[in-house]
Amino acid sequence: MDRIRIRGGNRLAGEIPISGAKNAGLPLMAASLLSEEPLSLGNLPHLADISTLASLLGVLGVELAMDGDAPNGGHAGRVLTLHARKIASTTAPYDLVRRMRASILVLGGLVARVGEAKVSLPGGCAIGNRPVDLHLKGLEQLGAEIDVRGGYIEARAPKGLTGGHVVFPFVSVGATENLMIAASLARGETVLANAAREPEVIDLGHCLNAMGAKISGLGTDTITIEGVPGLHGARHQVVPDRIETGTYALAAAITGGDVMLLGANPAHNEALFEKLKESGVEVSVDGRGVRIAPGSGRPEGVDVMTEPYPGFPTDLQAQFMALMAAASGAAMITETIFENRFMHVSELARMGANVTVHGASAMVRGAKTLAGAEVMATDLRASVSLVLAGLAAQGETIVNRVYHLDRGYEKLEEKLAACGADIQRLRD
Ligand code: EPZ
Repeated sequence: MDRIRIRGGNRLAGEIPISGAKNAGLPLMAASLLSEEPLSLGNLPHLADISTLASLLGVLGVELAMDGDAPNGGHAGRVLTLHARKIASTTAPYDLVRRMRASILVLGGLVARVGEAKVSLPGGCAIGNRPVDLHLKGLEQLGAEIDVRGGYIEARAPKGLTGGHVVFPFVSVGATENLMIAASLARGETVLANAAREPEVIDLGHCLNAMGAKISGLGTDTITIEGVPGLHGARHQVVPDRIETGTYALAAAITGGDVMLLGANPAHNEALFEKLKESGVEVSVDGRGVRIAPGSGRPEGVDVMTEPYPGFPTDLQAQFMALMAAASGAAMITETIFENRFMHVSELARMGANVTVHGASAMVRGAKTLAGAEVMATDLRASVSLVLAGLAAQGETIVNRVYHLDRGYEKLEEKLAACGADIQRLRD
């Protein structure tokens, strides 16, 4: 298994191109199931999770083709064309779903297009239980019959789905997306109340509308979908990755660096940027992206609480904790989205971080210096928080289980090394 070695202490300086968003790309790829015409997605990142979903869609009969580099080079990815001319299979097998929970996103598209789906129930996960009950209840409200048998979700709607009124008891990004996909082809109007407002949800809505769907209310907590009989092909550019943006903003801040995040959309990271400014870090915006520069001293401790968008993202909680571990003063970090998302704490502690967890809150007392160590991570964002700590730490850090990073960060070592980080991948 590959590892990453970092020799800490270098200030980052330079430019980092931001890739397309993984968490937008995945539902967009699933949306291709709705049409017998091709959907072309530009600016898709090259990531293990994207490849996993591509394999699954291939099993379902979607023809996939990569069209080469997008014309503006740099931070643009390649264009992937997905052509679901015919659905060859309606079964999403355990072996693929267990590798990536977002595979559940094919459920809505399959039921809406062909009236049936059999999708392996995603199992547990390092950051929490992560049930899919809201996806299933929502689909039932659109008229699907659902059984869970032998570890598989079996959904049927032989006469097609019908519009319904779905009130989510709490905000779920994935359930909102699955229901938007399904309701696009349902008969009549669907209203999703307490819907997610994440930029990735909006991006999916824009793409579905470009395919002929009639979705309004995007970016608000009430999304209305007027079902249509069929969707056509479209071309769509994936939004920049706000979590990658935030991660590199925090990498710059933790090293006292000066970095331009090329192509970042500042509006998608307001919660983080407010906290960075409060901490004393300079954040400025120009036509090329977002610049992070050091303030007059070490960043100061500030409290954060994770919340659905536009609140502070859970996907940046671990990285923010790394910054707070090296900040001056204390910070209270509260995780409200996932019940077990502090797995990075004990690894950060091995690098000298002073963190005490009480239930959903972690009290972080900033240490003057962090020290390099050999560490291991359990999920994508936890792993990258260790990379950030390693960039600031004295001495050498080895991060094990790099496959977690490869799920969500494209060319991580290259992007950081180009800004002066001493970071290498050690291949086994
Ligand atoms: C998306 O996961 C992201 N994944 C996650 O990113 C992100 O952490 C999460 O949203 C929250 O922002 C993708 O977009 C592919 P949820 P999702 O449904 O859709 C509970 C990363 O690191 N819940 O909004 O699965 C759930 O357990 C990943 O890139 C139910 O109880 O998240 C959680 O506590 C990790 N029942 C909360 O809701 C359900 O049916 C929010 O989850 C669905 C969710």
